[in-house]
Amino acid sequence: MKILAIISSPRKKNTYNAIKTIESIHKKNCDCEYEYLFLNKVDLKNCIGCHQCLTRGEDFCPLKDDRDIIIDKIESADGVILASPNHTMNVNWRMKNFIDRYSYLMHRPRFFNQRFMVLITSGSYRGVKEAMKALVLMGSGGKVISKIGVTNSPGMNNRKRKKQSKKLKKEAIKFINNMNKPFVYKPSFGDLIWFSVFKAISKETEKEAPADYEYYSKRNFFVKLDLSFGQRSILKIFQALFSVLNRIGLV
Ligand SMILES: Cc1cc2nc3c(=O)[nH]c(=O)nc-3n(C[C@H](O)[C@H](O)[C@H](O)COP(=O)(O)O)c2cc1C
Repeated sequence: MKILAIISSPRKKNTYNAIKTIESIHKKNCDCEYEYLFLNKVDLKNCIGCHQCLTRGEDFCPLKDDRDIIIDKIESADGVILASPNHTMNVNWRMKNFIDRYSYLMHRPRFFNQRFMVLITSGSYRGVKEAMKALVLMGSGGKVISKIGVTNSPGMNNRKRKKQSKKLKKEAIKFINNMNKPFVYKPSFGDLIWFSVFKAISKETEKEAPADYEYYSKRNFFVKLDLSFGQRSILKIFQALFSVLNRIGLV
């Protein structure tokens, strides 16, 4: 089993140590191979906000670097860990740049066979939820199996420390157990709404955003699935609704 750990801290300290702990739990419980990808060591340039990836398509990004090599690594891993320290109530800038460089995936998701674990390390409990939300978005389409917050506050008492280690172990094992099961993608209500919004809007914005139009015009849903009557009805109703809302300028 191949696990890719993407780490955005430039130092090998709290975030790295937390991943090392997870790795040792995993190695005791499964035959897995770890690959570490440090965002300060890869060639991933800073997003310049040109919108080309969102509108014309990711191939029009003017930055030439390892963006697509990283995507291939994510897609060929059985499980991906996204790990960032909490910097001012959010992920650190390297992780935020990583998320922004792949923001076209929020428009045109593709990680439907991927399983993610997200990890935030922090000095206190504040801002962990906010940082976690940003990482969950990066898993565009993929399933986030485990979410872990690790606090390194020096004032933490032993009871809290033990509780945190127990939770980390539980989440690490949950991730491995999930990877041992065959992957079955089940669309959530949120996925159906997400698809409906983008499909409806892509029709209205074909000229401004041809990449979205091309992606959605080819599909009845993100992945080929036998959707139930109820799911198909949700897609139809919400596409019609979002189309109208978009035309009158409300979405
Ligand atoms: C610039 C900066 C901002 C930080 N902001 C927060 C914060 O808002 N909340 C928090 O709990 N910890 C904050 N911290 C503490 C780090 O999240 C924490 O020490 C983390 O575990 C460091 O991980 P690392 O050793 O892998 O770099 C901040 C640290 C730095 C350097």
